[in-house]
Amino acid sequence: MKTNSSPKVVISGSGVWTPSNAITNEELVASYNAYAEKFNAEHGAEIATGRMEEKPFSSERFIEKSSGIKARYVYCKEGMLDITRMRPKFPERAEEELSNQAEIAVYAARDAMTAAGKTAADIDAVIVSCAYTQRAYPAIAIEVQHELGIEGFGFDMLVACSAATFGLHRAYDSLISGSARCVLAINPELVTPQVNYCDRESHFIFGDVATAIIMERSETCTSPNRYEVLSTKAITKFSNNIRSNFGHISRATDSDPFGWDKLFHQAGRKVFEEVSPIAAAHISDHLASLKLKPQEVKRFWLHQANINMNNMVIKQLLGQDVDSDVIPTILDRYGNTASAGSVIAFHLHNADLKKGDIGMICSFGAGYSVGSLVLRKL
Ligand SMILES: CC(C)(COP(=O)(O)OP(=O)(O)OC[C@H]1O[C@@H](n2cnc3c(N)ncnc32)[C@H](O)[C@@H]1OP(=O)(O)O)[C@@H](O)C(=O)NCCC(=O)NCCS
Repeated sequence: MKTNSSPKVVISGSGVWTPSNAITNEELVASYNAYAEKFNAEHGAEIATGRMEEKPFSSERFIEKSSGIKARYVYCKEGMLDITRMRPKFPERAEEELSNQAEIAVYAARDAMTAAGKTAADIDAVIVSCAYTQRAYPAIAIEVQHELGIEGFGFDMLVACSAATFGLHRAYDSLISGSARCVLAINPELVTPQVNYCDRESHFIFGDVATAIIMERSETCTSPNRYEVLSTKAITKFSNNIRSNFGHISRATDSDPFGWDKLFHQAGRKVFEEVSPIAAAHISDHLASLKLKPQEVKRFWLHQANINMNNMVIKQLLGQDVDSDVIPTILDRYGNTASAGSVIAFHLHNADLKKGDIGMICSFGAGYSVGSLVLRKL
């Protein structure tokens, strides 16, 4: 809990690494539909006798209308659209090489460090928070710390779509308690390896990205573009509606480590209907705890999963639709990038705010989980 004597904590820089490969809805749907057609032809007999279900076709119109997503960036396009493979193909790296996630984390981290005017010597904690890490240990954060030459400590944490905000909460707590002076919080969201490209309900949702934020005490901040963190708030409430069962236990249960349940799956409509009101209530409660009204917030950098979901949250909060200046959207071209979406929105749409303006970063998703930070431009 922040008190009047607590030190001032600021976000002093942000960074985004965007992959050079993009996949449009048109490409994705063409590939999925060719796969479905082949599947149905090959399993005609089982489908005719009801022993197997026919694969339904996907549609660009449905995807754009129900999610707002038009395209997504991907770390590796190879293999993804190949109907005999339906997943990306990464060359395996030796243990001596930088891992894929550490590589993209470092790109975003360098961008954020430049924005904040920081060198490795200024940073004393690295938090990698994201939806998946590509291995259990050593932590990706420690690999990034080593690559950048940062002293101090690093750790990984997983909170699905709220990982970025929850990571920033841990950064904030470390700065308030004095266990760190300057924290690098990174979100290397390498999500596409976990997408089931054979499932029309979810094949269009995700893209890859890495984001990073520098958070520090105000007395060390030299960045001209800085935001005071006024408060952080998190809630979680258990739900099975978004789930991935991928994990180290599969080896002991003899289950298929790549079976459908080991990939991302969700009851999308239920998630939409249940999470939107939870997120709206969370935002409103958080603002009320600071005696602020939603109308006083100049910009909401919201989680980027679904445009209709964000519009519903804002309508519940403000009682009306608002223009894109108040809730910038990046999911149309990035897709859902798990926890990184609200940080991309912040990174691309914060420089124009004026001194004293209030902004709010908020993410929501699997868990369920909701995390937010209320910021004031300094
Ligand atoms: C996933 C999501 C885009 C689906 O949109 P929706 O409007 O809820 O659509 P529904 O799931 O109700 O499906 C409507 C119909 O379209 C069909 N459909 C699903 N995918 C389709 C596709 N790619 N192409 C065409 N039709 C499709 C469904 O099978 C369903 O058909 P039915 O009515 O015959 O059963 C939406 O629910 C969503 O974004 N939810 C929130 C998810 C979220 O934020 N998750 C967090 C992850 S981090």
